Amino acid sequence: MPSLPSSPAWQALVAHRDALAGRRIGELWEDDAGRGAAFTHSSAGIAADFSKQRATPETVSLLIALARERGVPAAIERLFAGERVNATENRPALHTVLRGDERVSVDGREVLSEVQRNRERMRVVAQAVREGHWKGHTGERIRDVLALGIGGSELGPRLALEALRADADGPRVHYVANVDPAALDDAIAGLDPASTLVVVASKTFTTQETIANADAARRWLAASLGAEARPKHVLAATANTAEALAWGLPECNVFPFADWVGGRFSLWSSVGLPVAIGIGMPRFEQLLAGAHAADLAFRSSPLEHNVPVLAALFGVWNRNALGCASLAVLPYASRLESLPAYLQQLEMESNGKRVDAEGNPLECPSCPVVWGGTGTPGQHAFHQWLHQGTDAVACDFIVVARPMGGAPEMHEILLAHACAQSEALMEGLATPQTHKACPGDRPSTTYVLPALDAFHLGALLAIYEHKVFAQGVLWGIDSFDQWGVELGKGIAGRVLPAIRGEEATLHPSTHHLLGVIRKLGRE
Ligand code: F6P
Repeated sequence: MPSLPSSPAWQALVAHRDALAGRRIGELWEDDAGRGAAFTHSSAGIAADFSKQRATPETVSLLIALARERGVPAAIERLFAGERVNATENRPALHTVLRGDERVSVDGREVLSEVQRNRERMRVVAQAVREGHWKGHTGERIRDVLALGIGGSELGPRLALEALRADADGPRVHYVANVDPAALDDAIAGLDPASTLVVVASKTFTTQETIANADAARRWLAASLGAEARPKHVLAATANTAEALAWGLPECNVFPFADWVGGRFSLWSSVGLPVAIGIGMPRFEQLLAGAHAADLAFRSSPLEHNVPVLAALFGVWNRNALGCASLAVLPYASRLESLPAYLQQLEMESNGKRVDAEGNPLECPSCPVVWGGTGTPGQHAFHQWLHQGTDAVACDFIVVARPMGGAPEMHEILLAHACAQSEALMEGLATPQTHKACPGDRPSTTYVLPALDAFHLGALLAIYEHKVFAQGVLWGIDSFDQWGVELGKGIAGRVLPAIRGEEATLHPSTHHLLGVIRKLGRE
């Protein structure tokens, strides 16, 4: 595929951008009374308001032409059909099968029945733990789940548990990702091993931080219950059953998923087991149902009304035409506090690439920096930069129509601020008192969920997954690999023995740094 900048559709867009120069988003609103309706589309009950994007109907037509030229419709079909869209790892990316009911084959083998078998096992164990039938080694029921995992094995499930905490009527779930021993210490402080179930989530079951935490948790359990207690207190969710068995778990304690599920797309698999235990399998299946509804809409909606495709197109327009180097994710919901971190991995690990799927250098910027924080606290922290900073920035607002807490009048205040911030970013403030002036013309999208429930959370996350995939197609990137993470892991593998006093050849800068660390560590 030719690079984006050399594509005729893209060149038409650049010419259009130049012709649009000087037109402010606010003016586009003034000129078009029907703009709101024309730029708002829905998917799985979620409305996406793109009307504060710096775009006219002509921009949208040109962007749609770009999507056609870059083969987005065919790529969507390849994704759902189980083709090897993950070129560099030669794998399909079939997270959609985890929440759907379509029979898809991989290497000639139909995979849905295995997915359903694994989900049934999740249901049985989640129910047994929640209803107290699963007892600990001393006969105690499980009151706490210690969930160990990092990256995609933590960010999605942690987000789901936090977002749906109003429904979390099962054992309390405590996530630990960092290998900083303080993280585990803080999590197990106050926990009773006898009523604690450890769930180790790791696609590879080789991730150093997760295995170090699992080893430490295993020692913690054994210290008061004995090693023989392990089968009652440790479960694993992994695509590498052999490693989990070698680590010392019985097969019945291992909940597998397939390697064609990407880590950052694995919430829907057995990686979601702590979520199913926390909120119950029926609600977990609501999460799957919401994502599935978004899958069906992504696969069937015409591009002009296709929310993830339009989000992908506006993202590329903002990044590559309007020069927005970052995307601020602003959920106006305290229970969505972990959404920016979740999207950082989903977007930046997927599309933070500098070569296309064939390995050719990209001739244009790819994934922007994704960051953010909840509204309204962010307004009293970094929104100053959003309004008056020198960088162009695009924003995603996430708003929930129905109150998430007891006091509806406070929710009204929250909604007022969410609406006000996107308007202020669009309109800005022109005043001779330049220190008060705001340039405005900052593009934004607002996603509106009717309620923060399992169905709509599932749908929202699937919309972002599909946006990321479609954006990868537009840039010509393999969005499902992450080779860049290996370099640092490799170097850490050489530094650790040195820290432990073994012979090691290190870069002089690292040698120096270790010296500084040792000196201050001794003082
Ligand atoms: O290092 C990055 C990464 O491989 C992510 O892609 C993944 O989500 C995370 O580490 C954890 O990997 P695992 O689930 O195999 O422990």
